[in-house]
Amino acid sequence: MRTIHHSAAPSRGATSLHSEDAVTDSHRPVMLEESLAGLSVRAMPDAIYVDGTFGRGGHSAAILDVLGAQGFLHAMDQDPDAVTAAKLRFGERGNFRIHHRNFGELGELARDCGMVGQISGILLDLGVSSPQFDDAERGFSFLRDGPLDMRMDPSSGEPASAWINRADAEEIADVLYQYGEERLSRRIARRIVEARIETPILRTTQLADIISRAMSGPRQKIHPATRSFQAIRIFINRELDVLPRALQSAAEVLAPGGRLAVISFHSLEDRIVKRFMRDARGTGPDDAKKAELKRVSRAFPSDAECAINPRARSAVLRVAERVS
Ligand SMILES: C[S@@+](CC[C@H](N)C(=O)[O-])C[C@H]1O[C@@H](n2cnc3c(N)ncnc32)[C@H](O)[C@@H]1O
Repeated sequence: MRTIHHSAAPSRGATSLHSEDAVTDSHRPVMLEESLAGLSVRAMPDAIYVDGTFGRGGHSAAILDVLGAQGFLHAMDQDPDAVTAAKLRFGERGNFRIHHRNFGELGELARDCGMVGQISGILLDLGVSSPQFDDAERGFSFLRDGPLDMRMDPSSGEPASAWINRADAEEIADVLYQYGEERLSRRIARRIVEARIETPILRTTQLADIISRAMSGPRQKIHPATRSFQAIRIFINRELDVLPRALQSAAEVLAPGGRLAVISFHSLEDRIVKRFMRDARGTGPDDAKKAELKRVSRAFPSDAECAINPRARSAVLRVAERVS
């Protein structure tokens, strides 16, 4: 297999897909109480928090409720729609600011705002929000017909359609396998390349049909395009490249005693978080460069939460604290 430019290797078994079957109409914050407890949010005049994934602000709202008029919350999102929602929802507040930035730029943001080493808590609630899935025009959904885009930030990078019509079969197969753990990756990739000779692949349901036909066989629990769409989304948004950069920056910009809380939805990203929190404890070969973290907790959503919000089913929350 050729190495594509992202880093994580495929794993077998533990993956839980952030399946569209589980998407709700509005974005319900996942593991809200656990996240607040993990971050140990406190209303203090000098408390600074960063919500790196504003979405529709479920977690931000809860942090602001605890802060009241004290402290400050910086929120980031790479999606302009999330930024607009943030301005509408909290624009009037004196202790809130939304930044249209990728959380991979957390270190730069902390430097720009003069808060390196002073942040009390950083939250990353990874992946795509329900409003992004639900809006057919964003191209994330294999159930809703729309342009095959899949960029969380439509002003950056290329839409999925540009890549899928250009990449060779080997590259497509590698992406489907590495980021979707799709065992039929080669067969699907061949069918994609054959199909686009006839007509360019520009729509979500067009791609979903090609994948479904390539996978004809016994019916599975999830839609046949679930793994492939997840893979293409992760690849197009460089999700597994950005995450390690964000984690490293988070460790460096936290205050001593500050908390990092990360909610992951599939094993590829959870593995990156787990290893980072383990190795950033000063035990790695290059620990001189590392801020020291200690692991605080790992939590899963309750059965009650999963019953109300099926999207929470695959979530894992990990929390670490900067000790020095
Ligand atoms: C799961 S949602 C977060 C939901 C949020 N916690 C809430 O309660 O509404 C993830 C959000 O993070 C954003 N996002 C994902 N990756 C990002 C990145 N690398 N940089 C900035 N924002 C990102 C997405 O655009 C999306 O709005």
